[in-house]
Amino acid sequence: MSQVSTDPSIMPQAIISAQQLTQKIQLSQKELCIFENLNLDIYAGEQVAITGRSGSGKSTLLGILATLDQASAGHLQVCGESVDQLNEEQRASVRLKHIGFVFQSFQLLPHLSALENVMLPLRLHPHFHYASAEQKAQALLAKVGLERQAQQTPKVLSGGEQQRVAIARALISEPQIIFADEPTGNLDGATAKEIEQLLFQLNRELGTTLILVTHDPQLAAQCQRHYELADGHLIEHSRGG
Ligand SMILES: Nc1ncnc2c1ncn2[C@@H]1O[C@H](COP(=O)(O)OP(=O)(O)O)[C@@H](O)[C@H]1O
Ligand SMILES: [Mg+2]
Repeated sequence: MSQVSTDPSIMPQAIISAQQLTQKIQLSQKELCIFENLNLDIYAGEQVAITGRSGSGKSTLLGILATLDQASAGHLQVCGESVDQLNEEQRASVRLKHIGFVFQSFQLLPHLSALENVMLPLRLHPHFHYASAEQKAQALLAKVGLERQAQQTPKVLSGGEQQRVAIARALISEPQIIFADEPTGNLDGATAKEIEQLLFQLNRELGTTLILVTHDPQLAAQCQRHYELADGHLIEHSRGG
Protein backbone atom coordinates (compact mmCIF):
# COMPACT_ATOMS: atom_id res chain seq x y z
CA MET A 1 0.00 0.00 0.00
CA SER A 2 1.21 3.49 -0.77
CA GLN A 3 2.30 5.49 2.25
CA VAL A 4 1.84 8.88 0.57
CA SER A 5 0.18 11.18 3.08
CA THR A 6 -3.12 12.75 2.15
CA ASP A 7 -3.44 14.61 5.45
CA PRO A 8 -4.96 17.93 4.33
CA SER A 9 -3.24 19.79 7.19
CA ILE A 10 0.18 19.19 5.63
CA MET A 11 -0.83 19.53 1.97
CA PRO A 12 -0.72 23.13 0.73
CA GLN A 13 -4.19 24.18 -0.27
CA ALA A 14 -4.66 26.62 -3.11
CA ILE A 15 -6.18 29.91 -1.99
CA ILE A 16 -7.56 30.34 -5.51
CA SER A 17 -8.28 27.26 -7.58
CA ALA A 18 -9.79 27.58 -11.04
CA GLN A 19 -10.63 24.59 -13.20
CA GLN A 20 -11.74 24.71 -16.81
CA LEU A 21 -12.71 28.34 -16.32
CA THR A 22 -14.42 29.68 -19.43
CA GLN A 23 -15.92 33.04 -20.27
CA LYS A 24 -18.07 33.36 -23.37
CA ILE A 25 -20.32 36.33 -24.01
CA GLN A 26 -23.33 36.21 -26.27
CA LEU A 27 -23.26 39.21 -28.58
CA SER A 28 -26.13 40.03 -30.93
CA GLN A 29 -24.55 38.34 -33.95
CA LYS A 30 -22.05 35.88 -32.48
CA GLU A 31 -20.57 34.40 -29.35
CA LEU A 32 -17.36 35.98 -28.08
CA CYS A 33 -14.99 33.57 -26.35
CA ILE A 34 -12.74 35.60 -24.06
CA PHE A 35 -10.99 32.55 -22.60
CA GLU A 36 -11.62 28.85 -22.38
CA ASN A 37 -10.72 26.00 -20.01
CA LEU A 38 -8.22 27.94 -17.90
CA ASN A 39 -6.66 26.08 -14.98
CA LEU A 40 -4.92 28.03 -12.27
CA ASP A 41 -3.90 27.36 -8.66
CA ILE A 42 -2.57 30.17 -6.52
CA TYR A 43 -1.17 29.54 -3.04
CA ALA A 44 -1.27 31.68 0.09
CA GLY A 45 1.26 34.50 0.18
CA GLU A 46 2.28 34.23 -3.48
CA GLN A 47 2.79 37.16 -5.81
CA VAL A 48 1.33 36.35 -9.21
CA ALA A 49 1.47 38.58 -12.27
CA ILE A 50 -0.89 38.29 -15.22
CA THR A 51 0.16 40.03 -18.41
CA GLY A 52 -1.26 40.08 -21.91
CA ARG A 53 -2.13 42.46 -24.72
CA SER A 54 -4.91 44.96 -24.34
CA GLY A 55 -8.20 43.15 -24.92
CA SER A 56 -6.74 39.71 -24.11
CA GLY A 57 -9.17 39.26 -21.21
CA LYS A 58 -7.02 40.13 -18.17
CA SER A 59 -9.64 42.30 -16.46
CA THR A 60 -12.35 39.77 -17.24
CA LEU A 61 -10.28 37.01 -15.66
CA LEU A 62 -9.37 39.08 -12.60
CA GLY A 63 -13.01 40.10 -12.08
CA ILE A 64 -14.06 36.45 -12.14
CA LEU A 65 -11.27 35.24 -9.83
CA ALA A 66 -12.25 38.04 -7.42
CA THR A 67 -15.93 36.95 -7.63
CA LEU A 68 -17.00 40.34 -8.99
CA ASP A 69 -18.29 38.48 -12.06
CA GLN A 70 -19.27 34.90 -12.78
CA ALA A 71 -17.69 32.68 -15.39
CA SER A 72 -19.96 31.13 -18.01
CA ALA A 73 -18.48 27.68 -17.25
CA GLY A 74 -15.90 25.97 -15.06
CA HIS A 75 -15.20 25.82 -11.35
CA LEU A 76 -13.72 28.32 -8.95
CA GLN A 77 -12.80 27.90 -5.30
CA VAL A 78 -11.77 30.84 -3.14
CA CYS A 79 -10.12 29.98 0.19
CA GLY A 80 -11.46 26.44 -0.09
CA GLU A 81 -15.03 27.52 -0.75
CA SER A 82 -16.76 26.80 -4.06
CA VAL A 83 -18.30 29.99 -5.45
CA ASP A 84 -19.88 28.47 -8.58
CA GLN A 85 -23.43 28.36 -7.26
CA LEU A 86 -23.38 31.53 -5.16
CA ASN A 87 -25.67 34.46 -5.88
CA GLU A 88 -24.57 38.11 -5.95
CA GLU A 89 -25.14 38.62 -2.23
CA GLN A 90 -23.29 35.45 -1.23
CA ARG A 91 -20.35 36.40 -3.46
CA ALA A 92 -20.27 39.84 -1.80
CA SER A 93 -19.93 38.07 1.51
CA VAL A 94 -17.03 35.95 0.16
CA ARG A 95 -15.34 39.17 -0.99
CA LEU A 96 -15.85 40.82 2.38
CA LYS A 97 -14.20 37.86 4.11
CA HIS A 98 -11.34 37.14 1.73
CA ILE A 99 -10.76 39.70 -1.02
CA GLY A 100 -9.50 43.23 -1.56
CA PHE A 101 -9.51 44.82 -5.02
CA VAL A 102 -7.41 47.72 -6.36
CA PHE A 103 -8.53 49.28 -9.67
CA GLN A 104 -6.52 51.23 -12.21
CA SER A 105 -8.86 54.21 -11.82
CA PHE A 106 -8.82 54.16 -7.99
CA GLN A 107 -12.67 54.14 -7.74
CA LEU A 108 -12.85 56.31 -4.64
CA LEU A 109 -16.11 58.01 -3.72
CA PRO A 110 -15.49 61.72 -4.40
CA HIS A 111 -17.65 63.18 -1.64
CA LEU A 112 -16.13 61.05 1.13
CA SER A 113 -12.87 61.78 2.94
CA ALA A 114 -9.89 59.45 2.54
CA LEU A 115 -10.71 58.01 5.96
CA GLU A 116 -14.37 57.37 5.07
CA ASN A 117 -13.38 55.78 1.77
CA VAL A 118 -11.10 53.36 3.61
CA MET A 119 -13.84 52.53 6.15
CA LEU A 120 -16.45 51.90 3.46
CA PRO A 121 -16.10 48.10 3.03
CA LEU A 122 -16.61 47.59 6.77
CA ARG A 123 -20.03 49.26 6.56
CA LEU A 124 -21.25 46.10 4.83
CA HIS A 125 -20.19 44.11 7.86
CA PRO A 126 -23.10 42.90 10.02
CA HIS A 127 -21.28 44.02 13.19
CA PHE A 128 -20.07 47.38 11.90
CA HIS A 129 -18.79 49.55 14.73
CA TYR A 130 -17.94 53.13 13.73
CA ALA A 131 -15.22 53.92 16.26
CA SER A 132 -13.23 50.73 15.75
CA ALA A 133 -13.59 50.97 11.94
CA GLU A 134 -12.33 54.55 12.10
CA GLN A 135 -9.36 53.55 14.22
CA LYS A 136 -8.48 50.70 11.87
CA ALA A 137 -8.79 52.96 8.79
CA GLN A 138 -6.57 55.59 10.41
CA ALA A 139 -3.90 52.94 11.14
CA LEU A 140 -4.02 51.72 7.53
CA LEU A 141 -3.73 55.27 6.19
CA ALA A 142 -0.62 55.63 8.34
CA LYS A 143 0.70 52.35 6.93
CA VAL A 144 0.38 53.64 3.35
CA GLY A 145 1.97 56.96 4.32
CA LEU A 146 -1.15 59.14 4.45
CA GLU A 147 -1.89 59.69 8.11
CA ARG A 148 -2.11 63.46 7.65
CA GLN A 149 -4.42 63.27 4.61
CA ALA A 150 -7.21 61.36 6.38
CA GLN A 151 -9.74 64.19 6.20
CA GLN A 152 -9.03 65.18 2.58
CA THR A 153 -11.39 64.28 -0.24
CA PRO A 154 -9.95 62.49 -3.30
CA LYS A 155 -9.98 65.58 -5.55
CA VAL A 156 -7.26 67.31 -3.51
CA LEU A 157 -5.07 64.19 -3.44
CA SER A 158 -2.52 63.30 -6.14
CA GLY A 159 -3.00 60.14 -8.23
CA GLY A 160 -0.44 58.26 -6.17
CA GLU A 161 -2.13 59.34 -2.93
CA GLN A 162 -5.54 58.29 -4.26
CA GLN A 163 -4.17 54.85 -5.10
CA ARG A 164 -2.69 54.60 -1.58
CA VAL A 165 -6.16 55.31 -0.18
CA ALA A 166 -7.57 52.61 -2.48
CA ILE A 167 -4.93 50.14 -1.25
CA ALA A 168 -5.78 50.94 2.38
CA ARG A 169 -9.47 50.39 1.52
CA ALA A 170 -8.61 47.02 -0.05
CA LEU A 171 -6.84 45.98 3.16
CA ILE A 172 -9.41 47.10 5.72
CA SER A 173 -11.28 43.80 5.90
CA GLU A 174 -7.96 41.93 6.38
CA PRO A 175 -8.31 39.94 3.16
CA GLN A 176 -6.09 36.97 2.36
CA ILE A 177 -5.99 38.04 -1.30
CA ILE A 178 -5.40 41.39 -2.96
CA PHE A 179 -6.29 41.69 -6.64
CA ALA A 180 -4.86 44.68 -8.48
CA ASP A 181 -5.86 45.46 -12.08
CA GLU A 182 -3.14 47.66 -13.62
CA PRO A 183 -2.88 49.59 -10.34
CA THR A 184 -0.18 51.89 -11.69
CA GLY A 185 -1.67 52.40 -15.17
CA ASN A 186 -2.86 55.95 -14.37
CA LEU A 187 0.32 57.04 -12.57
CA ASP A 188 3.59 58.61 -13.70
CA GLY A 189 6.72 56.45 -13.71
CA ALA A 190 8.17 57.46 -10.33
CA THR A 191 4.80 57.27 -8.55
CA ALA A 192 4.09 53.93 -10.22
CA LYS A 193 7.32 52.52 -8.76
CA GLU A 194 6.34 53.70 -5.26
CA ILE A 195 2.92 52.08 -5.50
CA GLU A 196 4.43 48.82 -6.82
CA GLN A 197 6.89 48.74 -3.93
CA LEU A 198 4.07 49.42 -1.47
CA LEU A 199 2.06 46.47 -2.85
CA PHE A 200 5.08 44.15 -2.56
CA GLN A 201 5.91 45.44 0.92
CA LEU A 202 2.36 44.78 2.11
CA ASN A 203 2.43 41.31 0.52
CA ARG A 204 5.59 40.50 2.51
CA GLU A 205 4.53 42.14 5.78
CA LEU A 206 0.96 40.92 5.93
CA GLY A 207 1.41 37.63 4.04
CA THR A 208 -1.40 38.69 1.73
CA THR A 209 -1.53 36.95 -1.63
CA LEU A 210 -1.04 39.46 -4.46
CA ILE A 211 -2.56 38.87 -7.89
CA LEU A 212 -1.55 41.65 -10.20
CA VAL A 213 -2.49 42.49 -13.79
CA THR A 214 0.17 44.59 -15.44
CA HIS A 215 1.60 45.29 -18.85
CA ASP A 216 5.01 46.04 -17.35
CA PRO A 217 7.26 43.00 -18.01
CA GLN A 218 9.79 44.16 -15.39
CA LEU A 219 7.10 44.27 -12.74
CA ALA A 220 5.82 40.84 -13.80
CA ALA A 221 9.35 39.45 -13.53
CA GLN A 222 9.52 40.63 -9.90
CA CYS A 223 6.60 38.37 -9.01
CA GLN A 224 7.12 34.75 -7.98
CA ARG A 225 4.90 33.60 -10.81
CA HIS A 226 4.08 35.19 -14.14
CA TYR A 227 1.26 34.12 -16.45
CA GLU A 228 0.49 35.55 -19.83
CA LEU A 229 -3.02 35.51 -21.21
CA ALA A 230 -2.93 35.10 -24.99
CA ASP A 231 -5.56 33.83 -27.42
CA GLY A 232 -7.76 32.72 -24.55
CA HIS A 233 -5.05 30.60 -22.88
CA LEU A 234 -2.79 31.09 -19.88
CA ILE A 235 0.91 30.49 -20.43
CA GLU A 236 3.21 30.28 -17.41
CA HIS A 237 6.54 32.05 -17.85
CA SER A 238 9.55 30.74 -16.00
CA ARG A 239 10.76 33.02 -13.23
CA GLY A 240 12.43 36.12 -14.60
CA GLY A 241 11.16 35.24 -18.11
N1 LIG B 1 -19.50 42.50 -21.25
C1 LIG B 1 -18.83 42.48 -22.40
N2 LIG B 1 -19.47 42.53 -23.58
C2 LIG B 1 -18.78 42.50 -24.74
N3 LIG B 1 -17.46 42.39 -24.82
C3 LIG B 1 -16.77 42.33 -23.69
C4 LIG B 1 -17.40 42.37 -22.41
N4 LIG B 1 -16.44 42.29 -21.46
C5 LIG B 1 -15.27 42.20 -22.11
N5 LIG B 1 -15.47 42.23 -23.45
C6 LIG B 1 -14.42 42.11 -24.47
O1 LIG B 1 -13.58 41.05 -24.07
C7 LIG B 1 -12.25 41.33 -24.39
C8 LIG B 1 -11.39 41.28 -23.13
O2 LIG B 1 -11.64 42.43 -22.33
P1 LIG B 1 -10.79 42.76 -21.03
O3 LIG B 1 -10.94 41.64 -20.08
O4 LIG B 1 -11.21 44.11 -20.56
O5 LIG B 1 -9.30 42.78 -21.59
P2 LIG B 1 -7.95 43.39 -20.97
O6 LIG B 1 -8.18 43.73 -19.54
O7 LIG B 1 -6.93 42.32 -21.18
O8 LIG B 1 -7.63 44.60 -21.80
C9 LIG B 1 -12.23 42.69 -25.07
O9 LIG B 1 -12.25 42.49 -26.45
C10 LIG B 1 -13.52 43.32 -24.58
O10 LIG B 1 -13.99 44.26 -25.50
MG1 LIG C 1 -8.04 45.49 -18.47
